[in-house]
Amino acid sequence: MTAAAKAGASRRGRLATFASSTVGRKIAMAVSGLMMAGFLVIHMTANLLAYAGPEHINAYSRFLHNVPELLWGARIALLAALVVHVTSAILLTRVSATARPVGYDQREAQVATIAARTIRWLSVLLALFIVLHLLHFTTGTLLPGFAEGDPYANLVNAFSTQRWAAAFYLVMMVVVGLHLYHGTWSAIRTLGLSRPRRNPFSRPVATVLAVALWLGFTAVPVGVLLGLVGPRPSATASR
Ligand code: HEM
Repeated sequence: MTAAAKAGASRRGRLATFASSTVGRKIAMAVSGLMMAGFLVIHMTANLLAYAGPEHINAYSRFLHNVPELLWGARIALLAALVVHVTSAILLTRVSATARPVGYDQREAQVATIAARTIRWLSVLLALFIVLHLLHFTTGTLLPGFAEGDPYANLVNAFSTQRWAAAFYLVMMVVVGLHLYHGTWSAIRTLGLSRPRRNPFSRPVATVLAVALWLGFTAVPVGVLLGLVGPRPSATASR
């Protein structure tokens, strides 16, 4: 083996050791989580186009579907981020369970820790939501009358005819908000972008992101339920 090859192998070994360390896994979780949060900001903004009318939200969807490199690039990046995020979470949970096999005798109830404690259960719920959501609006399996290439019609159809869907999405957006609040705050801490703060309400980035995404996503089912986003005169797909 040449000196250069040896140096390369040792660098790869150090990288692998770092990636499998607790700090490495926390960083992987933070970066993959922030990637998915970035997707959610774009997704929520695109959903709000429903308020501007069917042509706007459908044009955005058409644009994405007409550029397969962009669509599949984004899908593959998101799937990779999800796999890294979930795997790191499971491995980190195992490490903390091994480090403290017997729980604390007493736990002080704090607002700061409510989201942290419930985050694992909420994550399972969130995973279930993602599966149902894709079956609802991407494949149309759970939406009778699903119109391929017409997300506007699908949103109006789902939230006006499937009461369970409207209720489920409204509840799940609270879960998304809580997950984002805790996750963004943890990611910022892990990446050293903020100093520790004891007051849970003094985490401006996490609070603004979580509240903005909750409100933005919730606005679409609420808009349909209130008739602000409704059926157009001619309900034919515009793709
Ligand atoms: C009220 C909240 C939401 C609504 C109304 C909504 C609506 C939609 C619609 C209509 C589509 C299909 C878009 C198209 O055909 O071009 C879609 C796709 C998608 N949504 Fe959502 N969404 C919501 C929240 C979320 C959340 C919280 C997540 C992630 C946790 C999410 C993840 C996705 C993904 C991954 C896709 C598939 C994109 C693809 O085609 O690969 N959505 N959503």
